[in-house]
Amino acid sequence: MGASKKRVLIVIGTRPEAIKLAPVIQTLRERPGSFDVGVCATSQHRRMMDQALDFFNIVPDFDLDIMRDRQELHEIACGVIAGLHEVLRVWRPDWVVVQGDTTTTFAAGIAAFYERIRVAHVEAGLRTGNIDAPWPEEANRRLTSVISSLHFAPTASARANLLQEGIAERNIHVTGNPVIDALLRTVAAVSGNSALARQLDSRFSYLDRNRKMILVTAHRRESFGAGLERICRALREIALGNSVEVVCPVHPNPNVEGPVHELLGGLHPIHLLEPLQYVEFVYLMERCHFIITDSGGIQEEAPSLGKPVLVMRDVTERPEAVAAGAARVVGTQTEKIVSEACRLLHDRTEYQKMSQSPNPYGDGEAARRIADVLSAAEERWESSELLPGKMHHLLGGFPAPGCAAHER
Ligand code: UD1
Ligand code: UDP
Repeated sequence: MGASKKRVLIVIGTRPEAIKLAPVIQTLRERPGSFDVGVCATSQHRRMMDQALDFFNIVPDFDLDIMRDRQELHEIACGVIAGLHEVLRVWRPDWVVVQGDTTTTFAAGIAAFYERIRVAHVEAGLRTGNIDAPWPEEANRRLTSVISSLHFAPTASARANLLQEGIAERNIHVTGNPVIDALLRTVAAVSGNSALARQLDSRFSYLDRNRKMILVTAHRRESFGAGLERICRALREIALGNSVEVVCPVHPNPNVEGPVHELLGGLHPIHLLEPLQYVEFVYLMERCHFIITDSGGIQEEAPSLGKPVLVMRDVTERPEAVAAGAARVVGTQTEKIVSEACRLLHDRTEYQKMSQSPNPYGDGEAARRIADVLSAAEERWESSELLPGKMHHLLGGFPAPGCAAHER
């Protein structure tokens, strides 16, 4: 078992999938005796995904090119399922690897499942317990668990969530999150390359080093409209009421870009930027005083760099950073965001407590662990060893092979 070379198709749709799967692709490709690796870009994101793939020198073998302006969820799902179906018929991988909780993740998983091809899910098991938040990501992630045969959980608590839902223990592997691999490799690339470091300094030379810098991103669907307006009002108050600079790379979603430029454009201490290349964003994360965001990936990265994070959501599926003291969930109410930001600006003890918390999301070796597990895994569909443990749960108590009660 596990000796033959495996055909693995990695599916990527958005910026965070590109960043988080880049180390996995690199690691699998370093083992040509074990893996034949293909990359399929769905291009749910066009510009932002390309930007991340370029940085990591990844050229997709297939490109479904599905992005349309203001695309709706059903359009993304239909485009991915139809496009991937063709790729799977032609390329016939043994495994399809998906990551996270986007619509690409779920739709690629279901396309593989329909073709009876095994799905391996990277960053499995994160849960808020609230199907409406984040929306639609909590559902995408749960649905992907149901159809996956291997679950790469980043933390012990993600593993516990999967066990609680009836996933067989032997199919869950705690690997850490490969976003930490990507981050550490990028930090090392900058610190080992003085020309690149100088280039980044000069790219952001307009930032005043005598002022504290706050890095901000926001793009969650559940915040569109009133939530985003409250967030913008908070940023305005923070920027005008303190001697700070606020740097905000703006997500190109028209539901974000429009209101953000309308409410914050032209306000001097606030710099609204285009989406940044990963290395530029990592540079700003290292340089900032703290981060205010609703991003998932940034919640995972910031503790590794010793940067406190204020999370502009009502709930997070990443409770580890909150428990470790590195992150605080502040919601989207203006007053709360402003008061927590001011606390970090003016209360040195509080700042130090948050910035010295441990990083719970990995040690930079997640991709190696994922490759090790994949190389040993059995992929034949009829194998009872890897039937998704979840089936038992869904089918109302009829035990699926390989899903005995003592394993849950
Ligand atoms: C998607 C994911 C979200 C993830 C986020 C990362 C879903 C449902 N949502 O949200 O989980 O956190 O990506 O950023 O899968 N656009 C561009 N260029 C780009 C990307 C987007 O112009 O490179 C614009 C387009 O008008 C597009 C819109 O943004 O229609 C929304 O993109 P979409 O992928 O639907 O959702 P995101 O909000 O980016
Ligand atoms: N990021 C980037 N450029 C930017 C903003 C963010 O490269 O201008 C990176 C960030 O470091 C993290 C990822 O993009 O690795 C997060 O993506 P996003 O916030 O779009 O999605 P989420 O993580 O919320 O799904």
